[in-house]
Amino acid sequence: MSFARPPLPLTPPIAAPSILSADFSRLAEALTIVDPARDWVHCDVMDNHFVPNLTFGPLIVRAVRRLTPAFVDVHLMIDHPERLLAAFREAGADQITVHVEAPHDHEVAHVLDAVRATGARAGLAIKPGTPLAAAEPHLAALDLLLVMTVEPGFGGQEFMAETLDKVRAAREWREQHGGSFLIEVDGGIAPATAARARAAGAEVFVAGHAVYGQPEPRQALQALRAAFAGTEAGAGAPHRGRR
Ligand code: DX5
Ligand code: ZN
Repeated sequence: MSFARPPLPLTPPIAAPSILSADFSRLAEALTIVDPARDWVHCDVMDNHFVPNLTFGPLIVRAVRRLTPAFVDVHLMIDHPERLLAAFREAGADQITVHVEAPHDHEVAHVLDAVRATGARAGLAIKPGTPLAAAEPHLAALDLLLVMTVEPGFGGQEFMAETLDKVRAAREWREQHGGSFLIEVDGGIAPATAARARAAGAEVFVAGHAVYGQPEPRQALQALRAAFAGTEAGAGAPHRGRR
């Protein structure tokens, strides 16, 4: 299957359903609820080293790419992500996010450059216990900052509200220093927690269990989008990320 791809949505707020909670025997059906004009598809790659869980690699990202024209947001929870950047980009990733805590062959700045060199947008993720300071040297050049709102590794965990302080701080940093990175939250996001994260300044909302873990995923995604609609973002004017 091939699609004429629409302009990719980069104007927040953006919902990013995570296929981690989808039924992989019915992936095509799961992806029909994603609106390519406004949503992203979030792909959680885990390696049983950086996190205890093991999910999938470029093969499934390629399947996702063939099943939807939507923006493909790849979250790498793996050691040495630089070794697989080209493979994920070739599989169809529009954006590749690596963890600042992961072991890398090179400096993180170099890894982010390597992501950009593939043509993908570059994201950097921080775990709940990692201070924003660990990402700060990279913020000016980032396309996405992913603030984990649970400990990475599994879907269906409880939202950690204390992580919102980092969302606020990232928003303030961008107001003060500039930069065009979007702020994404991931973990325990459902309509109520999305509204809180939005108020703190989050712009992209990953949700697995709250979408694909529900009896009616399409309505659940709509409920998530509706949760943004009634909530203003944190400080600052609406922001448009670069492509
Ligand atoms: C967790 C993953 C998440 C996961 C979120 O390590 O990074 O993207 O899919 O799942 P929920 O929304 O169920 O917390
Ligand atoms: Zn994720």
